[in-house]
Amino acid sequence: MPQPKTFYVTTPIYYVNSVPHVGSATTTLVADALARFHRQCGEPVFFLTGTDENAPKVANAAAKAGIPTAQFVDTVAQGFVDTWKFLDISNDDFIRTTQERHRDVVGEVFQRLQARGDIYTGTYEGWYSMSDETFFRDSDVVNGRAKETGAIVERVTDDVYYFRLSAYSDRLLAHIQANPDFLQPETRKNETLAFIKEGLRDVVVSRRNTGWGIPVPGNPSQVVYVWFDALINYLTATGWPDQPNWENVWPADIHLMAKEIYVRFHATLWPAMLMGLDLPLPGHVLGHGWWLVGGEKGAKSKGNIPTPQDAVEYIVSRSGASTEAAIDALRFYLIRDIGFTSDAEFSYETLVTRYNAYLANDLGNLLNRTLNMLRQYSGSVVRASVERTAGGPIATLAVAVATEAQAHFEARNPGAAIDAIWKLVGGGNKEIDTAAPWKLRKEGNEQGVIDALYNALEANRIASVLIAPILPHASRQIRRQLGLDPAVVPSWETAFQWGLVPDNTRAAEAHPIFPRIETKEKIRSMTEPTVETVAAASPAAAATAESDPKITIDDVMKLKLRIAKIKTAERVSGKDKLLHLTIDVGEGTDRHLLAGIAQYYSVDELPGKNIVVIANLQPRKMAGIESNGMLLAATDADGKAILLTPEKDVHAGAEVR
Ligand code: MSP
Repeated sequence: MPQPKTFYVTTPIYYVNSVPHVGSATTTLVADALARFHRQCGEPVFFLTGTDENAPKVANAAAKAGIPTAQFVDTVAQGFVDTWKFLDISNDDFIRTTQERHRDVVGEVFQRLQARGDIYTGTYEGWYSMSDETFFRDSDVVNGRAKETGAIVERVTDDVYYFRLSAYSDRLLAHIQANPDFLQPETRKNETLAFIKEGLRDVVVSRRNTGWGIPVPGNPSQVVYVWFDALINYLTATGWPDQPNWENVWPADIHLMAKEIYVRFHATLWPAMLMGLDLPLPGHVLGHGWWLVGGEKGAKSKGNIPTPQDAVEYIVSRSGASTEAAIDALRFYLIRDIGFTSDAEFSYETLVTRYNAYLANDLGNLLNRTLNMLRQYSGSVVRASVERTAGGPIATLAVAVATEAQAHFEARNPGAAIDAIWKLVGGGNKEIDTAAPWKLRKEGNEQGVIDALYNALEANRIASVLIAPILPHASRQIRRQLGLDPAVVPSWETAFQWGLVPDNTRAAEAHPIFPRIETKEKIRSMTEPTVETVAAASPAAAATAESDPKITIDDVMKLKLRIAKIKTAERVSGKDKLLHLTIDVGEGTDRHLLAGIAQYYSVDELPGKNIVVIANLQPRKMAGIESNGMLLAATDADGKAILLTPEKDVHAGAEVR
């Protein structure tokens, strides 16, 4: 019987000139979530990550550290292995480009392309940037720096080898056209199309051998250019060309990376190399945005971005959660908040907000309330009411949520899957409020209590199945506390099945997995000094920091505050925080307003509500919609928005003063 094609997902192989940080962790975590999802679906999975070790900048870092290069790369590579283990990354292989298996395959690829005339010799005179490991033309450089990246360049003159990239323009364009979701997201695809249409030039694929790198076959005075070498790792790990089974693994289904190595390397050079080898191209090349810190790209060399261990330690120290739970919390934040179409600002404030709102409150409450009621009303023993609750609101919601989450995972977007899954978590909590088992119990409605508890138990169980790709520890803990087997990761299918918590299961006592973080104490800031350090540095600075500049009554009178009635609310596609509201401000025609409240309010609960808006704000276009006004909301201790509404019903358009 032919074996099913293995689902194959890759991360970039990271340079070993510095240690892993939350940026490199993010790509690895997104890949991990996808790999775990596909395993839960019962597919064979091959998840590859590794390290890029032959780069000149790596040799340079070793020289700076005064350590022999081979020893240096061993130590840093081990740091990546350890960090991914710490983050519960489920990679099936870890490739290092200094391994023999890789050197052999690079030699093989080089020779095959040479034999068909796609690699030829020539001379090169131009620029090289070591920090980008990229060749640049004269016209790409101003004042000794690459225009594209701002990196310092050095002059290079040498007899080298070229890869005939220019010959592949038409085939690349045809492939991109014929496979609309080969390059994602759309912005990256458009950049790539523009890059190809500008005219692809042949690429230098060797450099002078200065003692580090993979020698060119038959010419040890040159080493293979590090990008040419590095891209081949994706093929090496499959066992190409002669290990059994490689054809079951290749092509990769997904190559994941951030945007800076997308166009030039993964979306053009690599597919052209594969075409030259007559190999099928990867299914999807996916480039996400960057984590910024204070508006700048987070990078270890700038010292502005924490290691995963730092961030986890911070959560542990503030919450008292176990290290495993804190790791899950970091996984949650990095996977959920990284943008595919835009960059995102990394901050401890947002990490804490997400922790409290999604994990301590929503997920934690669902589990803790369920277990506490089960203990009080039924001595922690489950009484299954499968038939009575099947087809009820939670059973129906669970199927809808599992379907939506699956669609997001299949569309390679685990961050969006999280928000879908939280509809079940929120719905489970809401259903407990609606059913109010405590009231049913007072009324002597025993069957009602059993049904309500069983709905809540199933909501927890199904949530534990759906979150397993993102929060493997919490998923296990929830099952353990429910009295189910924590060791076996439940198949994805079980999220669609109702009634799998068996009768007579003995649940554990509630034990919060994510204890709340008290936010009265200042959250660590990524960019500013803390208030305490400002005060210590200068009392005057502290006074300014604390003072509240006053405004005059004229300033207040400028604001046109009005009561508005919400008529419709819908989500804005691609913007997970925004809701698009139509509101009546008593003007005869409705207004459109965009508000960042999608995490706190569902579209169903808003229509009909009276709210307060600033009606004379300059219109602003966001996500293609013109927003006319701004609503007012309070922020609670968790950073959640709470809408301001009039205490009594009042007509739309009423003045607020
Ligand atoms: N060695 C090359 C990749 C070769 S792949 C055949 C390389 N290495 S790297 O160490 O610089 O890693 C770059 C990757 O790390 C990015 O593409 C991204 O996956 C991740 N990130 C590094 N910094 C990041 C942010 N600030 N934000 C998001 N991702 C980050 O390039």
